[in-house]
Amino acid sequence: MATALAKAADATTSVEYAARIEHVSKSFAGPAGQQLVLDDITLDVAPGEFVTLLGASGCGKSTLLNLVAGLDAPTAGNITTHGRPALMFQEHALFPWLTAGKNIELALRLRGVVKAERRGKTEELLELVRLKGAYGKRVHELSGGMRQRVAMARALAQDSQILLMDEPFAALDAITRDMLHDELTRIWSETGLSVLFVTHNVREAVRLAQRVILLSSRPGRIAREWTVDIAQPRRIEDAPVAELSIEITEQLRGEIRRHGQH
Ligand SMILES: Nc1ncnc2c1ncn2[C@@H]1O[C@H](COP(=O)(O)OP(=O)(O)O)[C@@H](O)[C@H]1O
Ligand SMILES: [Mg+2]
Repeated sequence: MATALAKAADATTSVEYAARIEHVSKSFAGPAGQQLVLDDITLDVAPGEFVTLLGASGCGKSTLLNLVAGLDAPTAGNITTHGRPALMFQEHALFPWLTAGKNIELALRLRGVVKAERRGKTEELLELVRLKGAYGKRVHELSGGMRQRVAMARALAQDSQILLMDEPFAALDAITRDMLHDELTRIWSETGLSVLFVTHNVREAVRLAQRVILLSSRPGRIAREWTVDIAQPRRIEDAPVAELSIEITEQLRGEIRRHGQH
């Protein structure tokens, strides 16, 4: 699989992209034969870039993210990433029998960090996601927002150059989601990570990204993209965010109408 074969970044060469998606299509076998879900997607995520992939439910966003993660293979085309991406999903997927700290330490261990350094690094990561003191907390003792912070710290523990996020805040209430948007923006600017973030929420896409990619439905194709030229940190209720969201929503509605979903 292309992702697994991706070269590690070489410090002596300048890296052009964190992820490169070239003419990628994906079909699944369905009751009515092969169903084309993604059609000829080409997209680069630059080093340090924050890109959101926006589209209606069922348009193939998760499918594309899973392909970039190397969890599945494209039917056609190529995907390369610099190193192995870190993943974060809507469900936190933390191990409930481990504490917050041990969940993060496990990721460090899998990355090969020696035991003597793990505790210190875990504390640093907890501080980065503003969960200082939560090391010994069990998953069930944490709120939804805190769980997603631990999941973020665990993803960051992998020390990847690219973070793939699949609607990670969709199950949170609006205030918690707002706060996590702020944290993610701060962490992104502090770490220089590349982020490919999937959402069906237009405002969230505009709040976070430098570039918004709109996918059409059935099959998923890149319908349009926008560069978001609004200074960070933004707020979801800022006028320029709202203005661009209205424009993008119009396009998204057009895509949905064209495909007769509503
Ligand atoms: N493993 C699979 N087998 C068959 N069909 C799938 C599989 N994964 C996704 N699909 C189909 O692909 C389409 C896109 O799904 P998905 O990528 O989950 O959409 P999104 O994340 O944008 O909501 C849906 O029609 C879904 O039923
Ligand atoms: Mg999805």
